[in-house]
Amino acid sequence: MGWNSWNHFAEKVTDADVRAAADALVATGMRDAGYVYVNVDDTWEGERDAQGNIHSNNKFPDMKALADYVHSKGLKFGIYSSPGPKTCAGYEGSYGHEQQDADTYAAWGVDFLKYDLCGLRDVMDRDAKHDWKKASAIMRDAYVKMHEALVKTARPIVYSICQYGSDSVWEWGTAAGGNLWRTTDDISDSFRSMALIGFAQAGLEKYAGPGHWNDPDMLEIGNGGMSADEYRTQMSLWAILAAPLLAGNDLSRMDETTKSILMNKEIIAVDQDGLGEQGFRLGPLQTWVRPLSGGAKALAIFNFVTDDEPQPVTVRLKDLGFTGPVHARDLWSHTDLGMLEDSFTATPPKGGVVMVRLWQ
Ligand code: GLA
Repeated sequence: MGWNSWNHFAEKVTDADVRAAADALVATGMRDAGYVYVNVDDTWEGERDAQGNIHSNNKFPDMKALADYVHSKGLKFGIYSSPGPKTCAGYEGSYGHEQQDADTYAAWGVDFLKYDLCGLRDVMDRDAKHDWKKASAIMRDAYVKMHEALVKTARPIVYSICQYGSDSVWEWGTAAGGNLWRTTDDISDSFRSMALIGFAQAGLEKYAGPGHWNDPDMLEIGNGGMSADEYRTQMSLWAILAAPLLAGNDLSRMDETTKSILMNKEIIAVDQDGLGEQGFRLGPLQTWVRPLSGGAKALAIFNFVTDDEPQPVTVRLKDLGFTGPVHARDLWSHTDLGMLEDSFTATPPKGGVVMVRLWQ
């Protein structure tokens, strides 16, 4: 859990924005709710010196000082690079400098690396044109190479693989040393983008577990392109998916609704549940279940129909694996619903969700 600069600031991000995000994580209570990584995405990179050492550009005068500042707030510091010669935004990548860059990150105090394919595609094209097997091997080797370089630094650095879910990364991401891997293309701040990505995660649940997670991309909550109900859908679905929760909004300007969504502790508890099992879709409707520790379950019923009147949806407890009555608690209204005997019925609002915790 944490924050990443890309979704809101994109290429404009500066040292001051990152410090402001760190300050806001503390001031708003987000840090204490679990959001601890402060991740600088693309466009911090400057040039290499005569020895090949990477330097930050003039938007980031001193990366070590920035990392120290972030650490002084009780937070962790993340950075971004590409296995290719260039990043997606055209800045310097790590190609041919993997160990040197890993050592530099460790010396700066980096705790998280997002490693984004982009420029390596030119290398794959150059060295393996029309040979998908060979191209794929080049890609996998590049991810393993940086993993090994990070391990050699002896600093624990979370390794975030970003290649947009190509070549079924969930099948080899763990072996390549990934702690998380993007399963899809980039998200944008619209219901269509978020829902297409989120609901398409069905079936990937068997690949996730403690230390190695599917990553359906960052949160758009608070960026303004969706309704509050739609943002509640993203928060709920990402929690069911045991997904990384990386806020992507301007934390220094959050309204109360945004805060209440990002800091819903009961939903965060589902996301971070210690069993570490990713939830799954139950049947053809957008009804999702996540097994939680102690035999409890999170149940989310989504309404992703955009025109019709909201309809009630009923889920039978026996289809969730329960026999006998269960306790139910609504995780958005924060109310106990008492005991359920046979089933649970909810009518989620348009674009929205009803999410409950069920236990015996
Ligand atoms: C790719 C990634 C995004 C972001 C940009 C930065 O598109 O998928 O998440 O990191 O690059 O250039």
